[in-house]
Amino acid sequence: MGETISQEVKLIVHKSENELDQQTQHLFQKAREAAQKAYAKYSNFQVGAALLLEDGQIITGNNQENAVYPSGLCAERVAFFSAKSQNPESAIDKVVIVAKRTADDYFILATPCGSCRQVMSEYEGNQKNKIKLYLCDQKGKIFESESIENLLPFRFSEKMLNKD
Ligand code: THU
Repeated sequence: MGETISQEVKLIVHKSENELDQQTQHLFQKAREAAQKAYAKYSNFQVGAALLLEDGQIITGNNQENAVYPSGLCAERVAFFSAKSQNPESAIDKVVIVAKRTADDYFILATPCGSCRQVMSEYEGNQKNKIKLYLCDQKGKIFESESIENLLPFRFSEKMLNKD
């Protein structure tokens, strides 16, 4: 039979962006601007990510596609790699992710893919504070996660690489 264990994903839901503090609302604006500049000519699905670093800097990224499809990269990884390559010592406090279809003028929900969750959790595991993550859906509803860890239960981490 076996015993069932489970780790659930916990999300805080806000009715609208107005319920968030000014700084997080500003991050949403930056993420939307980044999404507008995505290079997404194959999927026509534009994603923007905006990170807030502990020193107050905002770093953005968007998806960058390629005629060799797997050579492209998601917005989250573009933003995280950019932040960490330029500011290796600066912790990341928050990430906002938004998405839209190129033909539409409204934003829709995009939840981060498994590879991006893995990349984000790597950096979270190497800093003191957890990284808060925010998404929004078509109706403007906000989904907040208190950490990346929360989105990737039973994940692989560097602890497993080392002998005990
Ligand atoms: N994409 C992202 O950039 N982030 C996500 O969270 C989901 C998917 C990109 C990858 C690809 O360029 C396009 O969206 C369609 O999958």
